[in-house]
Amino acid sequence: MPRRALRKIDPALDLSHHLKMWDELPRPWDAARLFERQAPLEVEVGSGKGLFLHTAASAMPAHNFLGVEIAHKYARFAAARLAKHSLANAVVIDGDGQRLFGELLADASLVAVHVYFPDPWWKKRHHKRRLMNDRFLRDVSRTLVPGGRLHFWSDVRDYFDATLALIAMNKSLVGPLEVTERPAEHDLDYRTHFERRMRLGGESVFRAEFRKC
Ligand SMILES: C[S@@+](CC[C@H](N)C(=O)[O-])C[C@H]1O[C@@H](n2cnc3c(N)ncnc32)[C@H](O)[C@@H]1O
Repeated sequence: MPRRALRKIDPALDLSHHLKMWDELPRPWDAARLFERQAPLEVEVGSGKGLFLHTAASAMPAHNFLGVEIAHKYARFAAARLAKHSLANAVVIDGDGQRLFGELLADASLVAVHVYFPDPWWKKRHHKRRLMNDRFLRDVSRTLVPGGRLHFWSDVRDYFDATLALIAMNKSLVGPLEVTERPAEHDLDYRTHFERRMRLGGESVFRAEFRKC
């Protein structure tokens, strides 16, 4: 299924709360300053068009949702979607998720980490560029609170299997816990746009969830 061009962003939208550039982030890290309130924090890496952030922030107003998206135009698009729906509990960082975890996020500060359909980097010599590498997974484990969750979904079997094998070596992440597919009740009733694309295109989706012990 081909990717549609991004819709134009309404120039009247104020993105100042919902879109943060790397240099604007609080240092030392302080999520409560970013969201202007204290609440359990969930982070999504690679937010794309922001469907997950929109749905999750609407469904769970008591949680803060932080997306990080390395592609500037997608970060803006996702932030505009949140601004349009006045979702003050969701913010998108225009930046690199690996840096966010490696340089800023504190130990035991997240109740969930979400990674949906990370770029596959198909060629073997490019696998080292994959997001779900040993260092990133150690950072995920370090930043989750006990009982916190890692959600990882992919349409690429070998990437999924290789990630599960890496996680199996990390004794503090328990799983994979079963995640069942449920029928979509409306056109946007999918975890993310990539899930929608894959399912409408008849492709398989591999889903896993882990619990920090
Ligand atoms: C295949 S798309 C999936 C988007 C979305 N998660 C979905 O399921 O619809 C992968 C996304 O991850 C972003 N991305 C890749 N590497 C990243 C990184 N290091 N930090 C943040 N975003 C990243 C890409 O720009 C892209 O938008």
